[in-house]
Amino acid sequence: MKRSLSGIKPTGKLTLGNYIGALKNFKNYQDEYENFIFVADLHALTLPIDSKELYQNTKDIVALYLACGLDPKKTTIFLQSDVSEHSELNAIVQNYLYMGELSRMTQFKDISSKMNQSSIGLGIFAYPVLMAADILLYDADVVPVGEDQKQHVELCRDLVHRFNARYNEEVFKMPQPVMAKVGTRIMSLSDPTKKMSKSDPKGDIFLLEDLKSIEKKIMRATTDLGSDIYYNKEEKPGISNLLTIYASLKNISIEEAEEHFKDCHRYGDFKKEVASVVVEEISKIQEKYNEIINSNLIDEVLKDGAIRAKKVAKNVLTRVQKTVGLYGKE
Ligand code: AMP
Ligand code: TRP
Repeated sequence: MKRSLSGIKPTGKLTLGNYIGALKNFKNYQDEYENFIFVADLHALTLPIDSKELYQNTKDIVALYLACGLDPKKTTIFLQSDVSEHSELNAIVQNYLYMGELSRMTQFKDISSKMNQSSIGLGIFAYPVLMAADILLYDADVVPVGEDQKQHVELCRDLVHRFNARYNEEVFKMPQPVMAKVGTRIMSLSDPTKKMSKSDPKGDIFLLEDLKSIEKKIMRATTDLGSDIYYNKEEKPGISNLLTIYASLKNISIEEAEEHFKDCHRYGDFKKEVASVVVEEISKIQEKYNEIINSNLIDEVLKDGAIRAKKVAKNVLTRVQKTVGLYGKE
């Protein structure tokens, strides 16, 4: 059976962008693939984060994974830090990626350009190395991610070519990034030329936000000149973003969403309909989240997930250790 693997880092409250670009698609793989979904808690340490916040965010993400339809019988749900093989494989693969290529990663350039150059942590620079270890440790065939993470999966693919060529055998499986048909990059509601990210409360919709506040944010979303509803990212970035959100949550194409609104010439009416679809979807998630967050389910799922993940990870790690010649790894 083919394998799918992905994760989210618990650095903040999950947004509608995380949901549409990543989370919503994770469950698409649980019937036909062996599905591994984890919380990238070690990655969350690459930028300063309060320890209590990290703890709570981690718990929230697991509850949201379950609330969004991941079935722990079908999907192995676990914490990166519970499977020490991630760090062990990281220590090996770091020697097959180059500083030049790591310094060209868009995420690193974006983050480091806003920092004091002399205090950029090694972890944020080496972020894609650990991410490659995460992927390779499970022989993943596909890696569902939003657009901003595609470059990191591509770097992992370069590593696979390089490593397999060096040892002249297929030690690592070649992973393929896969993206949602609609909504690989949801934009901020306050500035639709910027990505919706966990750190922009005005332009963000959070999955655990009050429903009234969500509705308000959509009604106030920045829109464009004119009154027609159609998709054109340059002319109408705000409308295009709302159309994308609508299409994704309705599971239809952008063209079908345009068709649906072709006779609507008032942005207010359009926004009202988008808001009602978003609120409906998020309220269902919140209802399930509330049932889960204070139950024992989270700990049970993580305990079982760590055991299942470790089994696979240990095998792959041993194979790699033997390949590179680490003594006594039979
Ligand atoms: P992060 O918030 O960076 O931990 O991202 C977790 C997952 O959500 C990754 O697969 C991202 O590509 C995806 N993601 C984050 N923000 C967005 C967005 N605005 N639109 C679509 N996907 C996103
Ligand atoms: N970097 C991803 C993000 O920010 C999280 C992540 C860590 C990941 N390791 C991964 C995603 C491996 C897919 C596969 O969202």
